Amino acid sequence: MPVLRSIRERFREEQPLDGVKVAACLHVTAETANLMQALIAGGAEAALCSANPLTTQDEVAAALVDLGVPVLASRGEGIESYSRHVHALADWRPDITLDDGADLLILIHERGQEVSGGAEETTTGLLRLRRLEQEGRLTCPVVAVNESLTERTFNDRYGTGQSALDGILRATNLLLAGRTLVLFGYGATGKGIAQRARGAGATVIVCEVDPLRALEARMDAFEVMPALKASQRGDLFVTVTGSRGVLRREHFERMRDGAVLANAGHFDVEIDLEQLGEVATGGVRRVLPLVEEYDLGDRRLHLLASGRVVNLAAGEGHPAAVMDMSFANLALAVEHLRLHRDELENSVLDVPKEIDEEIARLKLESLGVEIDSLTPDQREYLSSWGTSDQA
Ligand SMILES: NC(=O)c1ccc[n+]([C@@H]2O[C@H](COP(=O)([O-])OP(=O)(O)OC[C@H]3O[C@@H](n4cnc5c(N)ncnc54)[C@H](O)[C@@H]3O)[C@@H](O)[C@H]2O)c1
Repeated sequence: MPVLRSIRERFREEQPLDGVKVAACLHVTAETANLMQALIAGGAEAALCSANPLTTQDEVAAALVDLGVPVLASRGEGIESYSRHVHALADWRPDITLDDGADLLILIHERGQEVSGGAEETTTGLLRLRRLEQEGRLTCPVVAVNESLTERTFNDRYGTGQSALDGILRATNLLLAGRTLVLFGYGATGKGIAQRARGAGATVIVCEVDPLRALEARMDAFEVMPALKASQRGDLFVTVTGSRGVLRREHFERMRDGAVLANAGHFDVEIDLEQLGEVATGGVRRVLPLVEEYDLGDRRLHLLASGRVVNLAAGEGHPAAVMDMSFANLALAVEHLRLHRDELENSVLDVPKEIDEEIARLKLESLGVEIDSLTPDQREYLSSWGTSDQA
């Protein structure tokens, strides 16, 4: 994680977080450990609990404890233990919170506790915090890390784009070349999956409900058609819409023998599992650790990871190179909240453009890529409104 490493080195010299208490409610993974170390290098006191007990890496928790960071998490802990840990982190009276789902910052608000700022990593967390803001109850600035360009574009398009296919391949060892992949949803995430599947030799068909996104898919040279028609063509079906019941009975009934179904959307509601069970009159059996075969009599359909988010359920989620930029956003958001607290309103705020650009610059540097700068003449031209010397 070279971007985070260079931030950590600067933090060590400048000590911008001297004495700040930062409480993080994030996935307890090796990538998060790097973030915690960057914060501590900057002079912060940091403590961590898990945003999702199922993703906690116990060995990482133990290593952080060895480094003197309190970690309140263990893999597979129950909801009561999880809740006790979030409460304990709030009891610690942090100055700044980092969340993945807003559990910690919402709890702090419910308790009427003071905090000088927070940063939020996911869409779901931001939705909750925006509702709090609409009700006039948000008492601190929150940096919407999820929406910076270096987080959203790279995380969704390149992170999920690659890791969703990786999860599918790990579960099935399918050859994509020569196969037809039907993709539901050509959003930030779907675009990544479509591009990568095409790169691996698959024919990609996109199903959309938004005319603009459908047009974009067509102009990106993918086939676009309604789901009923695509159901008869696909070898592999991937949903990534954020909606529910995207693949239903009428689609299952048209699919070919051996078709594979996977979901990369957040919740396991995109493939209607109840209806899939109903059409499987011949029963269901597990044929590989993450593959269930649904017997429709004359045909079999294969469901991956029980319809749960395939890149996490069958793979390892986003690669560290993607989390590097996401967590660089969090580290710089903490610094921003510390340095500018008095100028910031109590609302959900965009990540400042300078932070986004700084992260992109550091990432390019780590890739050994150099770019040009505007000449003084170009800068002046682009900032003026006159038209005198152009035809
Ligand atoms: N697996 C991961 O790591 C990961 C990462 C980011 C987002 N997500 C999840 O993926 C889902 C999509 O996220 P996004 O950021 O791409 O969203 P998005 O809003 O950018 O795109 C979703 C697209 O799906 C389309 N859509 C909605 N209903 C549809 C339907 N019935 N049939 C066909 N298309 C339909 C929408 O028109 C939209 O273009 C969400 O659930 C999100 O939480 C997962």
